[in-house]
Amino acid sequence: MVSTTSFKTTKSEEIFAAAQNLMPGGVSSPVRAFKSVGGQPIVFDRVKGAYIWDVDGNKYIDYVGTWGPAICGHAHPEVIEALHQALEKGTSFGAPSVQENILAEMVIDAVPSIEVVRFVNSGTEACMSVLRLMRAFTGRDKIIKFEGCYHGHADMFLVKAGSGVATLGLPDSPGVPKSTTTNTLTAPYNDLEAVKALFDENKDEIAGVILEPVVGNAGFIVPDAGFLEGLREITQDNGSLLVFDEVMTGFRIAYGGAQEKFGITPDLTTLGKVIGGGLPVGAYGGRKDIMSMVAPAGPMYQAGTLSGNPLAMTAGIKTLELLQRPGTYEQLEQITKKLADGLLQVAKETGHDVYGGNISAMFGMFFTGNSVHNYDDAKKSDLNKFARFHRGMLEKGIYLAPSQFEAGFTSLAHTDNDIEQTLAAAKEVLADL
Ligand SMILES: Cc1ncc(COP(=O)(O)O)c(C=O)c1O
Repeated sequence: MVSTTSFKTTKSEEIFAAAQNLMPGGVSSPVRAFKSVGGQPIVFDRVKGAYIWDVDGNKYIDYVGTWGPAICGHAHPEVIEALHQALEKGTSFGAPSVQENILAEMVIDAVPSIEVVRFVNSGTEACMSVLRLMRAFTGRDKIIKFEGCYHGHADMFLVKAGSGVATLGLPDSPGVPKSTTTNTLTAPYNDLEAVKALFDENKDEIAGVILEPVVGNAGFIVPDAGFLEGLREITQDNGSLLVFDEVMTGFRIAYGGAQEKFGITPDLTTLGKVIGGGLPVGAYGGRKDIMSMVAPAGPMYQAGTLSGNPLAMTAGIKTLELLQRPGTYEQLEQITKKLADGLLQVAKETGHDVYGGNISAMFGMFFTGNSVHNYDDAKKSDLNKFARFHRGMLEKGIYLAPSQFEAGFTSLAHTDNDIEQTLAAAKEVLADL
């Protein structure tokens, strides 16, 4: 039985209290602090398959999957075994290795837009590097991003989403100079007219458009029919580049990512999460003529001490090998659809207005009666209700992302039984909200 009747998190509380004096907010990355749902975060002890154990011994069914990488399940035995063998040869080379070639070939074979790839250490690094490349290749400075899309924490992407502030390009965070973000133009997601207007107002100045082809960072939002096609057309007509940030969707919503799923090929792509199999990896890649700009092949500088690290490459290779096995994406779709449809159903049965769905192993549910096509729609959700739902589920042994504005993730390790337990817990929690 996963859920605990006497839910205690005494050790978590002690460790998290001590962490407050050691790290800003007690964490290494903000969302982990549970600020948007309130209450105490749990401190993990170990993870395996679809499960997490906290330091108090509570067990949870996990739908965060370390924010995406754990698509084969946490600590998959074959990934662990491959890592053991790789460890024996050392932890870092800072020099070429055959593992880089193997993972590069796998990525190039899988992702339609990628002819040449560069490995980095995180999604943030991949996105900031691709932005430099967009500018270097086109000789233009301006870019378009969408409200509610997250492309890591580099200065130029930290532009407030929504309202007049967004269009003025005012930075989202202190410490980001206004001069860094004035070239970052924003539009509402799924709004082709807004994109066209920006191109009209900034003729021959826009290097390209970057987006999450399925949004996961404003909650789970899918592209409307024709949106990705429209962006492909507009960018082509204007001599601009189209960049899919597939850090989240890559190897998750299909082996070849959103570009395979929707049949739209961007010029450049960023990757992360799954391709590192739980170790720190990011990557950017695309058309050979564009990637030839990257040093040392070309003049655009970008480098990294630990980039292409043999451990990270090994975990990535094994993870992709596991994903290539027959039936994996059918299994991910079946299990995730059962969960997403089931959540919507129990929420409606218990009298709540909800909107959501899934694509393959990515899902979401907003507490709103409206359909959600962009960040403004998402912001109409009942955040207080989400917070209470989140806490209730946690206390029943279900670990959901601690924000309404995050997608959920499943893995090959999640079983029908896990989903049924989750839905039973949701029914009880929702009935009490
Ligand atoms: C779409 C997208 N791009 C970029 C990033 C940044 O990746 P990282 O956290 O590895 O720096 C994330 C992280 O969640 C993401 O979801």
